[in-house]
Amino acid sequence: MVAALFATMNFQARIDPEKPALALAPMDGITDAPMRALQGESRAFSFAVSEFVRVSTDAIPPKVFRREIPEVEAGGLTPTGMPVQVQILGGDPELMAQSALNAIQAGATSIDINFGCPAPTVNRHDGGATILKYPCRVRDLVRAVRDAVPAEIPVSAKVRLGWESIDDIYENAAMAEEGGASWLTIHARTRVQGYQPPVYWSPIGKVREQLSIPVVANGDIWTFEDYLRCREETGCMHFMIGRSALANPSLPYQIAQEMGIREGEIGGIREPMDWIRLFERLNTYVEFYRGRTPGRSVARLKQWLNLAARFGGFEHFDAVKRLDSLDELMEKLAVELGVLARA
Ligand SMILES: Cc1cc2nc3c(=O)[nH]c(=O)nc-3n(C[C@H](O)[C@H](O)[C@H](O)COP(=O)(O)O)c2cc1C
Repeated sequence: MVAALFATMNFQARIDPEKPALALAPMDGITDAPMRALQGESRAFSFAVSEFVRVSTDAIPPKVFRREIPEVEAGGLTPTGMPVQVQILGGDPELMAQSALNAIQAGATSIDINFGCPAPTVNRHDGGATILKYPCRVRDLVRAVRDAVPAEIPVSAKVRLGWESIDDIYENAAMAEEGGASWLTIHARTRVQGYQPPVYWSPIGKVREQLSIPVVANGDIWTFEDYLRCREETGCMHFMIGRSALANPSLPYQIAQEMGIREGEIGGIREPMDWIRLFERLNTYVEFYRGRTPGRSVARLKQWLNLAARFGGFEHFDAVKRLDSLDELMEKLAVELGVLARA
């Protein structure tokens, strides 16, 4: 009985080709450790990917991974039990391999390589989506990391469709597989598009047919209907959502329920919380991590509320956007959401 229960539980960020999975997208500046802990509470996500750690002139030492991604010291899990993958970004295979090894030494249990970041500074320094211009480099980077870390550690890659052309995906995807990627996550846009519409889901479906590793579909799944359409267009059973999960906290719940995530597990998926409860829980995790991880709580909370206002109809962002202290922000939110008035 206990063995059967453990068999259904997931302690490592990995994808089973036969089982649906829903991943929380990495979002630099928003999905830090407290936010990942909060998102883990819903139990809707199979795993999360960390914000990227950039490898430029030297390998990243284990202590930096422990500071930036404190879950590595807790078996790679959030305090709410969600596995977290460590994402690294860079263009030098040797430094990337050494950094991945250092991440494992720090406690990481799964590695993702970022080939999608569109930030000009990152791209100028040979990282993120720039590498998509040279498919062989995708292969070489994945292979270097794959060869460096133990076989039981998944090494995945996250890409955009290409730098400029959506057709670049086919060669880059083949190269990621050839390099030994455990799975491939595809954000259905090019680098040149940035975050502009449209997303192109159908090439993801073609890549899925072309590869023998699992393919995770990502990009602009804003509603439950989008999820159904994306599934239809791509034929995928693995998905990643980012902005919509934060803008609409009930969406991961709806999708995970339809996918059958946590089926057979005690507790199942948790009902979505209301905004004020979410903020309170986030504060709990900010306290939990205080002093152990960079305190970016105000900036992160504002980024979150901004997303919620732009994409989720959250109406109170304007009232708090100029506040700089977390206490003030929480107090104002409580008033705005009518919590004090009710008390
Ligand atoms: C603010 C922000 C930060 C991001 N940071 C990262 C990152 O660190 N690593 C990465 O691979 N993708 C990053 N992304 C891209 C997302 O992981 C995801 O691919 C993209 O937002 C599309 O998915 P969505 O439409 O579900 O949000 C970021 C996106 C946003 C909006």
